[in-house]
Amino acid sequence: MAGNGWWRTAAIYQIYLRSFADGDGDGVGDLAGLRSRLPYLRDLGVDALWLTPWNVSPMADGGYDVADYRDIDPLFGTLADAERFLAEAHEQGLRVLVDLVPNHCSDAHPWFRAALAAPPGDPARERFWFRPGRGPSGERPPNDWRSYFGGPAWTRVADGEWYLHMFAPQQPELNWEHAGVRAEFEDVLRFWFDRGVDGFRIDVAHGLMKTPGLPDVGAAPDPADLPYQDHEGVHEIYRAWRSIADSYEDPRVFVGEVWLPTTAQFVRYLRPDELHSAFNFEFLCCAWEPNAIRKTIDDTLDTHRLVGAPPTWVLSNHDTIRHVTRYGREDTTFDLGNRRHGAFTDPALGHRRARAAALLTLSLPGGVYVYQGDELGLAEVEDIPLDRIQDPTWERSEHTDRGRDGCRVPLPWSGTEPPFGFSPPGSAQPWLPQPPAWSTRTVESQEPDASSMLRLYREALAIRGERLVTLPESITWLTSDDGVLSFRRGENFACVANFTTTPARLPAHTELLLTSEPLAGGLLPADGCAWLAL
Ligand code: NOJ
Repeated sequence: MAGNGWWRTAAIYQIYLRSFADGDGDGVGDLAGLRSRLPYLRDLGVDALWLTPWNVSPMADGGYDVADYRDIDPLFGTLADAERFLAEAHEQGLRVLVDLVPNHCSDAHPWFRAALAAPPGDPARERFWFRPGRGPSGERPPNDWRSYFGGPAWTRVADGEWYLHMFAPQQPELNWEHAGVRAEFEDVLRFWFDRGVDGFRIDVAHGLMKTPGLPDVGAAPDPADLPYQDHEGVHEIYRAWRSIADSYEDPRVFVGEVWLPTTAQFVRYLRPDELHSAFNFEFLCCAWEPNAIRKTIDDTLDTHRLVGAPPTWVLSNHDTIRHVTRYGREDTTFDLGNRRHGAFTDPALGHRRARAAALLTLSLPGGVYVYQGDELGLAEVEDIPLDRIQDPTWERSEHTDRGRDGCRVPLPWSGTEPPFGFSPPGSAQPWLPQPPAWSTRTVESQEPDASSMLRLYREALAIRGERLVTLPESITWLTSDDGVLSFRRGENFACVANFTTTPARLPAHTELLLTSEPLAGGLLPADGCAWLAL
């Protein structure tokens, strides 16, 4: 199956479980809510779902701090609910990927509790990175590493030792040199595969191994050579996991969250005996600018071809600024280290470009990710009151970075005021406040409107499923006017995107399949994208 799996062309919808649909009325999304909305996902036309973490967790980082890898957090339901959900999703023809968080666990995990209860030097501490501090009384951290959320990557415990956490202090890094850690995660993979999970999204896939000795990064580190990421030893872990996935009759798949500065590093995770696919963050971060986009598309296709992996395309996820907002800004790139909260954005421009971007990404070869709310054209919520912010980034950055809550606001389903059908009537308030203006962005309001983002996604996904997924994994660029990108897939399909501020001519075609904006006098409007039958 290796060459032709479903995952090579899949449209995968990302469910941020806490914010998708609330079934039990506590203001937090859950499995009951998700199960009730499966018909919506089937009708949208996606092939698979990726669920962000559902395991038992104190939720210090939205579930990316796992205390029990084999059970479901009570906030979301029970293991029996998860099994029912898997069966129902499969009945609707939807595959299911879930998040695996192997780089770190929760400080509430029994392993970390045991490590804390044990004295320095005890084997219970070897599953983590405990070290004495520097300085005469060990009062300084063991090295100069910084947490991705801000502040030092080390926290000191009562007996004076320090432990490593590249994210929040509640997320101690696991030591992947420890055989017991490896064995545990291999067992966790089997646990969920045996329950019908079709694959895993691997959190921080590039981070599991560290350079021995944990050397300082120094004052001017080379981003391609950091001691806490992309260590050669990580590949052996994925080879072992791949053989487990391949041992199932219906082989299971992995998609890696691999944030690395060079494609040469990135592509090594996609070798045929490692991960099946990885998110294309280069594309996500790219400016909405034709030369940059064209280069990114070419680079993506070239590098993936080298290892035989399918390219993927992604515009937004639960860690980024929603692209409707990004594309309305002067600087349309995304930078994980600088989200530019509050930068001026033109919502109408961002919306138009987001429609064009939807058609562009859905027409490219390979797999594509849709983040919940992309299909509703949701913008980043930039005015969440400071006392409601939940993302640990806010505290860790000493209140300089509002973090990621603005793209995690619960979805608007129906009605004219919050909670917009997210929770049943009479429920607790949603865990993050929804903007009143979302009354025009609900599923209910968009369904009857042929010009809505939701209808555009539905039509595009349907056409993609019927005509595009069987085409070869390549594109042919067509000659086009400056600022216009035009390419052909196979003999009979073309996609044209107009990045200029004036209407553009379309190549000769037999049928206009779909456009993000209505044509005017046969021309494609500014910021528009069209699909053509040739
Ligand atoms: C990446 C996840 O997408 C993000 O939400 C999380 O905070 C970090 N990994 C740490 O697990």
